[in-house]
Amino acid sequence: MKKFKIAIVGATGMVGRTFLSVLEERNLPISEVFFFASSKSAGKTITFKGKNYTVEELTEKSFDRGIDIALFSAGGSISLKYAPVVAEKGCIVIDNSSAWRMDPKVPLVVPEVNPEDIKWNNGIIANPNCSTIQAVIALRPLQLKYGLKRVIYSTYQSVSGAGMAGFKDLENGIKGEAPAKFVHPIAGNCIPHIDVFMDNGYTKEEVKMIEETRKILNLPNLKVTATTVRVPVFYGHSESINVELEKPFDLDELKQELKNFPGIVVLDDPANNLYPMPITAAGRDEVFVGRIRRDESVDNGVNLWVVADNIRKGAATNTVQIAQKLIEFQSEE
Ligand code: A2P
Repeated sequence: MKKFKIAIVGATGMVGRTFLSVLEERNLPISEVFFFASSKSAGKTITFKGKNYTVEELTEKSFDRGIDIALFSAGGSISLKYAPVVAEKGCIVIDNSSAWRMDPKVPLVVPEVNPEDIKWNNGIIANPNCSTIQAVIALRPLQLKYGLKRVIYSTYQSVSGAGMAGFKDLENGIKGEAPAKFVHPIAGNCIPHIDVFMDNGYTKEEVKMIEETRKILNLPNLKVTATTVRVPVFYGHSESINVELEKPFDLDELKQELKNFPGIVVLDDPANNLYPMPITAAGRDEVFVGRIRRDESVDNGVNLWVVADNIRKGAATNTVQIAQKLIEFQSEE
């Protein structure tokens, strides 16, 4: 079986470091690995599978050595600049930033939902936004069985979603220090503002969730709205998802559809205080669903509470799973 040369761009960051753990846990056929970050980190040591590697500064020449697959998580501007250069050299980029997600020539993939889209890539495959990934995994089985009419997202997103700097703001904020990353203190607070504001009053995070949901589920006209909120939690995003389905449903059958879907764990036993929380999902790769109940204010309405580890399934795990599928498809050719 062919072995692959794999590179990590942004290897010192919050998601980059988790790429390492997920790659270590999953046995991908890797022949060589390379680690890139900014000039600030060049020369640092990274240990992968018991071996030490030196972090290199990312430059246009970094990929002149037959690298097959690159996992990018170094921010949108780095992806915008380098992904086409790297793809041009024959390496497939799996990009965790928002830079390429809505480009019609770039597939946007959650392996449990739309793995076949990997096949039409032109050298770049986009990894969706963390809050979108867990949402579409919960929506997909409902879409397949009952059809989706309208979706309302309200999110409770952890500080690690804003990278190291976000994480430090909560850590330091608890000690009484002023924020450096967020525009308001996050300790003891909730901030209804993730990414920048758009002209229509939505934040870019909300627009990402709306547009990415439509693209991944291949429902360009789906009625969907979102309110995204940063909360003082270190790891794990939670989402209230209110769904109007096209068809009537039996609640027990709907729960079974969720249970049967790959990557979902249903935790729903209110009598025993059982429902997912960020601490349930931390360090896990599954999407947890609970509080499943009929919305009696509309026809065919259901409420879900959906929680996942935003750094693992919301970023690193999903990216590595895309790489695994890509390798699987290439091996079939
Ligand atoms: P560095 O640590 O050298 O700054 P996070 O979002 O968790 O802060 O991580 C961002 C990641 O992107 C880090 O690995 C960071 O490396 C990397 N990065 C930032 N700027 C660049 C750049 N100009 N070239 C390559 N990697 C970069």
